[in-house]
Amino acid sequence: KAVVQQLRRGIASAGMLAPHLQKSMRDYLNLNRHHVAYRGLRRGRQSGREVLCELKKQARLRTLDGTEQPFSGLAWDRLVPPRPLEQLWGQGSKFKSCAVVTSAGAILNSSLGREIDSHEAVLRFNAAPTEGYENDVGNKTTIRIINSQILARPRHHFTTSSLYKGMTLVAWDPAPYSVDLPRWYRNPDYDLFTPYEERRRLHPTQPFYVLHPKFIWQLWDVIQGNTQENIQPNPPSSGFIGIVLMMSLCEEVHVYEYIPSLRQTDLCHYHEHHYDAACTLGAYHPLLFEKVLVQRMNSATQHDLKTKGKVMLSGFSAVNC
Ligand code: C5P
Repeated sequence: KAVVQQLRRGIASAGMLAPHLQKSMRDYLNLNRHHVAYRGLRRGRQSGREVLCELKKQARLRTLDGTEQPFSGLAWDRLVPPRPLEQLWGQGSKFKSCAVVTSAGAILNSSLGREIDSHEAVLRFNAAPTEGYENDVGNKTTIRIINSQILARPRHHFTTSSLYKGMTLVAWDPAPYSVDLPRWYRNPDYDLFTPYEERRRLHPTQPFYVLHPKFIWQLWDVIQGNTQENIQPNPPSSGFIGIVLMMSLCEEVHVYEYIPSLRQTDLCHYHEHHYDAACTLGAYHPLLFEKVLVQRMNSATQHDLKTKGKVMLSGFSAVNC
């Protein structure tokens, strides 16, 4: 509880976490699975606006376009959607206001559904359903971000499930920090490439993109560059990736239950009976540090944060840096 209170004020650090979460953080630091070698600087405390401007400059939204090896050799330039993600809804046009709906258990009993659906575009994550939870999470889905496990693991039924139909899909998988694309293609965490190719062929009209690993690691660099301690050398969570994606597509981004409200709970997902504080505070992902940065950029009130778990962020097009 104490760490979440500190998080709402934007001053949380790893030392406040439960011992088992600190241990798992240390284990990931020692393991360094993705061969992270950070050479950037570590800034002193930047204002929310400075963080926003740094993200706008350093983390340019990028998806695979088929022009680089090995994808160029596989004719991915004709496989990926003809229009870039940023131009899908019209060149230079942005959504006025957007909702990012995290999958946190704390959104249960929030009655936020109507507010969420009132936004022009709504982003959801992975296998998070709306059916049966409409009153709390709404039912509009414009974009769904999915990690490679969703595409690769049979239990998600990616090809047949209705969860992944009727919206824009954006997939990602953690490549090595060096962004060696041929090596990533040979050895992804979970094979997202085969199901991606297959779905593009079967459903060419559904917009479906794969995030460029460079984008993911640029986000990580911004998080580490703004944190004094060493953060987990693993990619940011889908939540952070989705927030920055929407900051590129929208003038205003409303994020629900990323920084927990007073409904804060160890229930991992609103749609599953699984309890684990790591889902909210991070073990594999540098989630706590992502959240500190997002809190700093927040322009909504503490009241909105406590009652709705809502953070409001300016889209990149709406800030003059
Ligand atoms: O677990 P999953 O990655 O599908 O959840 C989507 C995102 O929602 C996470 O990446 C994380 O950023 C956020 N989340 C959270 N607290 C939770 C569960 C999810 O902040 N308890």
